[in-house]
Amino acid sequence: MVQVQEPSVRQDPPAPPQAVSTWSGPAREQAVQRMFTSIASVYDLNNTLLSFGLHYRWKQIAASFVTPVEQGTALDVGAGTADLALLVEPRMGATGRVVASDLNYAMLAEGLKKVDGRGLTGKITCLQASAEHLGFADNTFDAVTTGFCMRNVGNLPQAVREIRRVMKPGGRFICLEFSRPVFGWLRALYDWYSFKLLPWVGTKVARDKTGVYEYLPASIRTFPDQERLCQILREAGYSQVSYKNLTGGIVAIHVATK
Ligand SMILES: C[S@@+](CC[C@H](N)C(=O)[O-])C[C@H]1O[C@@H](n2cnc3c(N)ncnc32)[C@H](O)[C@@H]1O
Repeated sequence: MVQVQEPSVRQDPPAPPQAVSTWSGPAREQAVQRMFTSIASVYDLNNTLLSFGLHYRWKQIAASFVTPVEQGTALDVGAGTADLALLVEPRMGATGRVVASDLNYAMLAEGLKKVDGRGLTGKITCLQASAEHLGFADNTFDAVTTGFCMRNVGNLPQAVREIRRVMKPGGRFICLEFSRPVFGWLRALYDWYSFKLLPWVGTKVARDKTGVYEYLPASIRTFPDQERLCQILREAGYSQVSYKNLTGGIVAIHVATK
């Protein structure tokens, strides 16, 4: 685990794009690392364009599920450019702390710029860490959040167990992630958007060569739907597991208690 000290971007060695279906274990992690390193500087802009600005509202709603606490400590896993960590910070009280952790240095470096820009480096710490091996002591955090990270991890059950381990008893895990649209017509429209329009925009407009715009819809389709994710969370030992669909189930917020 490395504390991100300065907003400089490390260059990972280039490698050819791989087929999503072959990604697992270290190969998947390396591919995910390459993609996020290559898009880190344009991640926020792309996110806003491709979600029609909705991603920030989704994150605000996710943050609202974090119980406000005085002198609290929260962890945002897969924090990326730190939007969610910044939204959670005011809920941890005047002397509270938030750790924004992510596997990818370049994404965190972008996050650190935002944290720094708002004068919050004393309250939000950016740390490079894998969701599957967080490296914190048991029962450390009052709450753990994650936004659009869980579908990227190599071993989802391991990650949610690890998150539960570092959370205090009674703490809440809030998981914001793409999910399964509830209406057939919305699923059809969304399939067209994500499998046809998105890769086209990615290759023609953004001139992407990493395969990220093919990976994105594929990773969404293979991620557990709302009910299956509830089951995985219960199997990991969480209680009071529930979810709220947003934008017709295109994304869902799962809330689970330790
Ligand atoms: C789609 S971005 C989401 C960033 C941010 N949470 C947001 O909502 O905008 C996914 C992030 O998860 C990170 N990530 C992927 N796999 C990870 C893992 N195994 N452990 C920690 N972070 C991971 C990526 O580096 C990336 O920054």
